[in-house]
Amino acid sequence: MSYYKIDNLEQYFKHYNKSIREPRKFWGKIASENFTWYQEWEKVMEFDMAEAKIKWFIDAKVNIVKNCIDRHLARRGTKTAIIFEPNDPNEEALHISYNELHERVSKMANVLREQGIQKGDRVCIYLPMIPELAVSVLACARIGAIHSVVFAGFSSSAVATRINDSECKMVITSDGGYRGNKTIDLKGIVDEALEKCPCVEQVLVVKRTNTAIKMMEGRDQWLQPLLDDASDNNVAEIMDAEDPLFILYTSGSTGKPKGMVHTTAGYMVYSAYTFKNVFNYEENDIFWCTADIGWITGHSYILYGPLLNGATTIIFEGVPSYPDFSRFWEIIEKHKVTQFYTAPTAIRALAKENLEFVQKYPLASLKVIGSVGEPINEEAWHWYNDHVGGKRCPVVDTWWQTETGGIMISPIPFVTPTKPTYASLPLPGIQPVLMDEKRNEIEGNQVTGSLCIKFPWPGIARTIWGDHKRYKETYFSTFPGKYFTGDGALRDEVGYYRITGRIDDVVIVSGHNLGTAPIEDAINEHPAVAESAIVGFPHDIKGNALYGFVILKESGEYRDRENLSKEINQHVSDHIGPIAKLDKIQFVTGLPKTRSGKIMRRILRKIAEGDYSNFGDISTLLNPEIVEEIKKGKL
Ligand code: WT7
Repeated sequence: MSYYKIDNLEQYFKHYNKSIREPRKFWGKIASENFTWYQEWEKVMEFDMAEAKIKWFIDAKVNIVKNCIDRHLARRGTKTAIIFEPNDPNEEALHISYNELHERVSKMANVLREQGIQKGDRVCIYLPMIPELAVSVLACARIGAIHSVVFAGFSSSAVATRINDSECKMVITSDGGYRGNKTIDLKGIVDEALEKCPCVEQVLVVKRTNTAIKMMEGRDQWLQPLLDDASDNNVAEIMDAEDPLFILYTSGSTGKPKGMVHTTAGYMVYSAYTFKNVFNYEENDIFWCTADIGWITGHSYILYGPLLNGATTIIFEGVPSYPDFSRFWEIIEKHKVTQFYTAPTAIRALAKENLEFVQKYPLASLKVIGSVGEPINEEAWHWYNDHVGGKRCPVVDTWWQTETGGIMISPIPFVTPTKPTYASLPLPGIQPVLMDEKRNEIEGNQVTGSLCIKFPWPGIARTIWGDHKRYKETYFSTFPGKYFTGDGALRDEVGYYRITGRIDDVVIVSGHNLGTAPIEDAINEHPAVAESAIVGFPHDIKGNALYGFVILKESGEYRDRENLSKEINQHVSDHIGPIAKLDKIQFVTGLPKTRSGKIMRRILRKIAEGDYSNFGDISTLLNPEIVEEIKKGKL
């Protein structure tokens, strides 16, 4: 019997129970049967939660890229590995076969070695969503260099901080990047960043936009001539199971970004296993995850998870609104996408637009549709289910984090019955627990608490680069012996989990803990509302009161704002209770968001408090200009 694939609910429970009773046997069997190893492990795992030390597949030797590419060549050499869909719909899409990918990655790996990059060196990759990004990532992994992909929307200071923290020797970037009708000057941003980065010796530059750029003698080189001269014969590095594979920065609520370190074998097994099951992946599927490779979602579900399974994965360079709001749907139709994976913020943005944009396309190829990144509110869930999934594609609401390496709680399509706004059940190997304020585990169902995981899984990040103490303190000290996620969750009467959001998104009003997410859900159910964000602000009597920032639907009829405010509060009162009524409502045209779609509540809190003194760093916002607008609207 294989544990790699779950076919029905009975099997899910069987696998789940096995994974809890005998985790070593469970993961050992999956690892042994589905990957190629130079050498298998001595022990499947060892851990010490108190010291935050976790190891999987001890002493095993492996190369993840051999597993992503080389081992597929015999059977799938001519199969498309990557479909590149350019920003401009009139530019032809590119189909890169496994054979071609092998050749490109081998050449790139040789270029890196020739430029002096060795196993263990850190390489910063700052590229737009083009094939060279995938090739660079895989080439690093092939020679054992640790990739640190920085999302190509971050500012020069954010790039510099990340480069310096992990002391990258090299940066791979491009002359520019296309995003909708804009061209971004990536090389200029790198040049500015590198003024503060003495550790960087070399910059390789991909030509994409033909923008005129400055090349610094002795430091910068165009990549293409180096590739032209490189051999396509490359011997992959033999990696230890626990050798770092990559660093990926995630911003904490306080302090500098955390360089999460993922290691080789555990991450490989976990990203592949979760991809296979959560997306019901089958051989001829065309998988599309709309995230950027600069986020963990892109690492695990554009690159590693799909390629480890020999799948066809789409890399999309553009944005959902260019040339118009039907771009996503047009791409699904064009490439006959079978699985589509996106974020609630994109769903809400598209749901705000005219329905015709999506209705123009039958989307009949779709089989599974997924959501990730934040709680998906009920209205967005239904819109997605009805208009994208045509009510026949299971919606997989996948909960996980940069730190977890792969999906942790999610329905398994065609196996787990879905329930709107619920991520539902843990995947095999994952043991969630809810904790109360006294640090006790809350037993039973229909309860809420702080979400922890009480046993290691293969994909967990092993440390924070250069700061194991911070790793231990952040994740393993709040609830000793357990991994603390920072999220709150509710467990319903059948044991399904609903993630209610970050614990720090809780506002205490008159002594009641109010999660902002359910209040936002209630507001969003009002037919005129597109999106909302709630924050607390100091109140003489209640301690805190609630302040709501509300975006109205474009198509929504114009209404008397005062009446609308009353109606919104009536909704809140009906759904949550009068305690959750908002003291202030401000209508806005946008919300300050990070590039990964998270609302920057820190800024909204300051505006609500009337404190305009220092918003901190807003350079990582997707839409920094909105801050001024909201500020003005308040005055
Ligand atoms: C945080 C992790 C993991 C990929 C992208 C985000 C929130 C993520 C869900 C979901 C409710 C979710 C959590 C989590 N989150 N997925 N399906 N339902 N909340 O990675 O930037 O590391 O953020 O995103 O709050 O802790 P990330």
